[in-house]
Amino acid sequence: MRTQIGIVGAGPAGLTLALLLQRQGIEAVVLERRDRAYVEGRVRAGLLEQNTVDVMHRLGVGANLDRDGLPHDGISLRWQGETLHVPMRELTGRQVTVYGQQYVVRDLIDACGERGVPVHFEVDGVELHDLAGEPSITFDDGAGRQTLSCDLIAGCDGFHGVCRGSIPAGALREHHFTYPFGWLGILAEAAPAAEELIYAWHERGFALYSMRSPSISRLYLQVPADESIETWPDQRIWGELQARLGVPGWRVEEGPIVDKGITPMRSFVAEPMQHGKLFLAGDAAHIVPPTGAKGLNLAVNDVRLLSEAIGRYFSAGDSSGLAGYGEAALRRVWRAQDFSNFMTQLLHRLDDGDTFGSRLQLARLEQLRRSTAAITNLAENYVGFPATDDF
Ligand code: FAD
Ligand code: PHB
Repeated sequence: MRTQIGIVGAGPAGLTLALLLQRQGIEAVVLERRDRAYVEGRVRAGLLEQNTVDVMHRLGVGANLDRDGLPHDGISLRWQGETLHVPMRELTGRQVTVYGQQYVVRDLIDACGERGVPVHFEVDGVELHDLAGEPSITFDDGAGRQTLSCDLIAGCDGFHGVCRGSIPAGALREHHFTYPFGWLGILAEAAPAAEELIYAWHERGFALYSMRSPSISRLYLQVPADESIETWPDQRIWGELQARLGVPGWRVEEGPIVDKGITPMRSFVAEPMQHGKLFLAGDAAHIVPPTGAKGLNLAVNDVRLLSEAIGRYFSAGDSSGLAGYGEAALRRVWRAQDFSNFMTQLLHRLDDGDTFGSRLQLARLEQLRRSTAAITNLAENYVGFPATDDF
């Protein structure tokens, strides 16, 4: 088999890249380890920046998003019984849209099918070869060992994928930060009792109120990093959500929990996101804690930049865009790292053995209430800075 771009991973990064390339007449093949139902059912992110929505529209995959996506003009921050509305649209002129990642992935897979972009599910044993010369990917597809020769490889296989590890030791610089907590996330058949997302600081720990539709709520609780989901029966989850999010006269709407899981929280960047003819994109190259809602949006931004660079390489033989891809993508990655770390440190129970940290958090929250500059800074970062050629 031969193609121009071999893409490993059918998450938001890999699928979006395949469709952006197809629009430019560039061939790609996507290789995915899991089956289609698993990929389409994986409940994760839900908050799309304007930039991400724009890419979906440009690709002509925005019909379901326009119908079912929930545009939001702001978010709320809640602490010690008080609620601060952050009017993002008023402050920045931009908005965000709540639309589940699994729907984004489903829409992208459907479009690949309609447009003849091959996506091979359930491939095993992916290995990359000759990254500096004539690259190829070998894998098992049920019929035996296959070889896919390509001009370039896009490593879009997430944090636990194989692509990053195929780069020789020493060629990447890795930056890590691990938080001593994780998020327990649930999806519940309950009408959201709030129109906007609520990010809550609480002595018992952080909680987030989000939603997926007028009848489905998505909620998160800060839990210790090594927590087991077995210790969280549904009643305990609802009790903790009420304690952390509730205010007099307002309760979280409860209902059957249809999905629950615990995600660790980490910050990670692998620089420079490329090696020879391999280009990393999305979670394969960087992870942010979900408090800033940036992971999916960064993945889409990476492949927007990468597809433009690949386009120039094939149409004009100009490889300068490819050479500068990592540097351009990393500008936004580090902005998002800083913002995601800020939001995480602002809102989570620190358990650092002292009260100093939590008093600083309250001082920062108070500053957001009093300062237009401070709240505008938060809003600008949250909605996402406009996309440019090098950011
Ligand atoms: P992935 O979605 O991880 O896709 C990688 C794909 O590669 C997967 O399908 C995987 O099966 C496949 N793969 C892995 N290894 C191999 C292999 N060896 N061979 C072949 N295929 C392989 N982000 C936001 O922007 N907003 C949010 O609100 C938000 N909330 C989140 C909440 C939670 C609880 C979590 C866990 C994440 C959240 N994120 C959020 C982050 C977001 O989900 C990720 O950043 C996003 O999925 C990254 O997309 P990706 O395509 O890079 O990687
Ligand atoms: C979600 O709806 O899943 C969501 C929203 C905002 C976040 C993280 C997750 O910061």
